Amino acid sequence: LFVNASEASGRKIPDTLFGIFFEEINHAGAGGLWAELVSNRGFEAGGPNTPSNIDPWSIIGDDSSVIVSTDRSSCFDRNKIALRMEVLCDTYGTNVCPDGGVGVYNPGFWGMNVEQGKQYKVVLYIRSLQSVNISVSLTGSNGFQTLATANIVAADVSNWTKTEILLEAKETNHNARLQLTTSRKGVVWFDQVSAMPLDTYKGHGFRNDLFGMLADLKPRFIRFPGGCFVEGEWLRNAFRWKETIGPWEERPGHFGDVWLYWTDEGLGYFEFLQLAEDLGADPIWVVNNGISHNDEVDTSSIFPFLQEILDSLEFAKGAPDSAWGSVRAAMGHPEPFDLRYVAVGNEDCGKKNYRGNYLKFYYAIKQAYPDIKVISNCDGSTRQLDHPTDFYDFHIYSDANTVFSMAHTFDHASRSGPKAFVSEYAVWKQDAGTGSLLAALAEAGFLIGVERNSDVVEMASYAPLFVNANDRRWNPDAIVFNSYQVYGTPSFWMQRFFSESSGGILLNSTLQANSSSLLIASAIIWKNSDNKNYLRIKIVNFGSNFVNLKISIDGLKPSSFQSLGSTRTVLTSSNLMDENSFKEPNKVAPIKSLLEKADKNIEDVLPPHSFTSFDLPIV
Ligand code: AHR
Repeated sequence: LFVNASEASGRKIPDTLFGIFFEEINHAGAGGLWAELVSNRGFEAGGPNTPSNIDPWSIIGDDSSVIVSTDRSSCFDRNKIALRMEVLCDTYGTNVCPDGGVGVYNPGFWGMNVEQGKQYKVVLYIRSLQSVNISVSLTGSNGFQTLATANIVAADVSNWTKTEILLEAKETNHNARLQLTTSRKGVVWFDQVSAMPLDTYKGHGFRNDLFGMLADLKPRFIRFPGGCFVEGEWLRNAFRWKETIGPWEERPGHFGDVWLYWTDEGLGYFEFLQLAEDLGADPIWVVNNGISHNDEVDTSSIFPFLQEILDSLEFAKGAPDSAWGSVRAAMGHPEPFDLRYVAVGNEDCGKKNYRGNYLKFYYAIKQAYPDIKVISNCDGSTRQLDHPTDFYDFHIYSDANTVFSMAHTFDHASRSGPKAFVSEYAVWKQDAGTGSLLAALAEAGFLIGVERNSDVVEMASYAPLFVNANDRRWNPDAIVFNSYQVYGTPSFWMQRFFSESSGGILLNSTLQANSSSLLIASAIIWKNSDNKNYLRIKIVNFGSNFVNLKISIDGLKPSSFQSLGSTRTVLTSSNLMDENSFKEPNKVAPIKSLLEKADKNIEDVLPPHSFTSFDLPIV
């Protein structure tokens, strides 16, 4: 491999090259990154009519002691359903309540993670015509092990009353539940019951461990909130941002009919923008342009959708005294968010109204916000588009050989038109399982091609990002978690090799290998936070043989090389289909070792089916 390491002969890689794509799929947000422990906190999961679906809430007690139903008596206009609990037993009556009382419990998203010494803020709304005495407890999954408890005693809650309690766990249980119980006869209504750990990233509501995984990727952008989630099977179930902002209690939530689960929308439009800011990533807002999987709005009637999106831009970017900017300011963020990208639709190119609707969006957005870059769903890599755009969206899901060979997809793409945004790529199905080494290696090969073509590809992100192991709607994914554990799949680790590339210098490098070898390589120079330069040479051996590698580096003075701190990091495993798991989270993970000698000639042996990165500090 010949590398010309003189920066002058290289080319700057776009600052935005590698980022992430967050979709509300696989309970990535609800029951995932969003730390809310209660699932279906407003009892709305069945929609606005009664009886509503209170799942996963369950009843403690039997028909002789308690009757639970739903009605539309909530104090919140946009989510009228409340839980009505009629207690038939009483400590002091003839129908004595069972020990511990009767009531309801919520197991969260396949069990709540409650940890000893940590604090949990429980908020709930209560109404009753009698005085109340209600125990609020975090318990083990069968209700027996009390982890934390407090009582709400109130003489007058005849109007809806908000109650806040701080619970501190005295023990750990990863499969806990929240209970609301009483031994007092009467009728009590509950609504909007939330339990949040106090310990979230910067108090912004993001689960620390999952946020940490995202931060590790050093994403330069975050595309959100989908994917198909943005479109919906039907428009009535699409993501509508206005229903996801403001006080959490007032958000109606919605049923995502593509991935088939309810979300209370704690992670709403504001929180996505906050997440981007916290990650130091550019937000890329994917908007619905009046098209779902099964229905479409005619271009002649698209105005309300268009206005909704212009309002969303004012919400993000407007002055704090503008109509929508003031709503953002009231949510605690007076400064505008740095939103510079809008993707019009998801995978909608070719649909009947896409072009017409897209053009309306494009011109309206450009007129109101000339600095915003618009992304089209239509692939411009092989043809000239019939509409103006800054970027074209490009998705790849295929087998490993195809993805590996797609390293050359952009070699011949037009250099004069819009730039490419590979917003979803992954090996899937048989070659990937739930996250194989094989998939990661093929993707690494593809990304080396992306790096080499980064004069035309400005952004790339893997998909999907997260999966809650209890709800695998789509395999594979980059990050797997349950209530308390998390691991990266080989594709996660693969992406980490690229996290320094954004904003780096792509060097000229030439690989001389025999034609049957399955090798691909790139070389970059990047600066770390101390402003020190590093040379990183990445090489994928997609073949099944050992490869004797000679690297010859030109363009640097001999004194530039430093053996101290020069490393080789290898991602491989004994079996191509090896995966990580909660039991073996690091079965396929990078292994770093020191390079004994770093100078202009490096010799090494690449293992079969491996990804290697050589990292050399340069002075
Ligand atoms: O990443 C999963 C899905 O794949 C996305 O929602 C969609 O855009 C694509 O079809």
